[in-house]
Amino acid sequence: MGFDAEWLDLRAPADDRARDADLLQRAIAYAGSGVRMLDLGCGTGSTVRAFAAAGAESLDWCLLDNDPALLDLARRHHPEAEVRICDLSDLDAVPLTDVKMVTASAVFDLVSEDWVIRLIDRLARHRIALYAALSYNGVMRWSPEDQDDAAVTERFNHHQCGNKGFGSALGPEAATRMTSLLAARGYDVFSAPSPWVLEPSEAPLQDALLSGIAGAAHEAGFDDAAGWAARRRDAIGHARAEIGHMDVLALPGGG
Ligand SMILES: C[S@@+](CC[C@H](N)C(=O)[O-])C[C@H]1O[C@@H](n2cnc3c(N)ncnc32)[C@H](O)[C@@H]1O
Repeated sequence: MGFDAEWLDLRAPADDRARDADLLQRAIAYAGSGVRMLDLGCGTGSTVRAFAAAGAESLDWCLLDNDPALLDLARRHHPEAEVRICDLSDLDAVPLTDVKMVTASAVFDLVSEDWVIRLIDRLARHRIALYAALSYNGVMRWSPEDQDDAAVTERFNHHQCGNKGFGSALGPEAATRMTSLLAARGYDVFSAPSPWVLEPSEAPLQDALLSGIAGAAHEAGFDDAAGWAARRRDAIGHARAEIGHMDVLALPGGG
């Protein structure tokens, strides 16, 4: 699955429903108002929208991404925010001065463990909080079931651990590894499941998702991914899907 605006728009309602509301409220309460927030891999600005919809006010957002087309949309949607092009694989380029909380949505499953360690070592040094929502956790459930669901999920999960520009990605292990790495640095860490629950009425999202999953599973060695996707497409009008994610909030110790 790429990161074009069409895909991000399609997934936005599922993301908004999925985010854990308590964790988001806790993040907003910790941030307070008038503070510097830094969103990594902002896309068109979904994290800013989620914070605003949940009642956050007067935050000084800086949004980073390496995709100029997505940044143009982020600028249009959030003219009050500072929007900057930045390749996050160069961690030294990530501007942390005066930042109270770093945020990200659907990004930490793309990065490597080494990258996370280097990031959170910097965050810990400056007592910066971290809110990382919607990391894929490796669980996919479909109803009705198909004989190849488990094999496709296994190959897809393997594909998710490939290099997405940051070295071997954490993929489904992202939230679990982040939780222990952050706790080891003295953070108070909270996590909660944030699964997409897709109904039959969400056929366009299910359809796009099937293409992405089947493409990745095929690349990772599952030969009949197209057959699996075709059977799933035939069932879309009455199919439900659950795609597992996790949200993580880490507050500097004692915070
Ligand atoms: C799955 S999308 C999530 C976008 C947005 N946070 C959301 O939830 O809609 C991943 C985002 O990470 C960005 N990204 C991927 N690799 C990057 C890199 N090396 N530097 C900066 N941004 C990157 C993509 O351009 C994309 O916007």
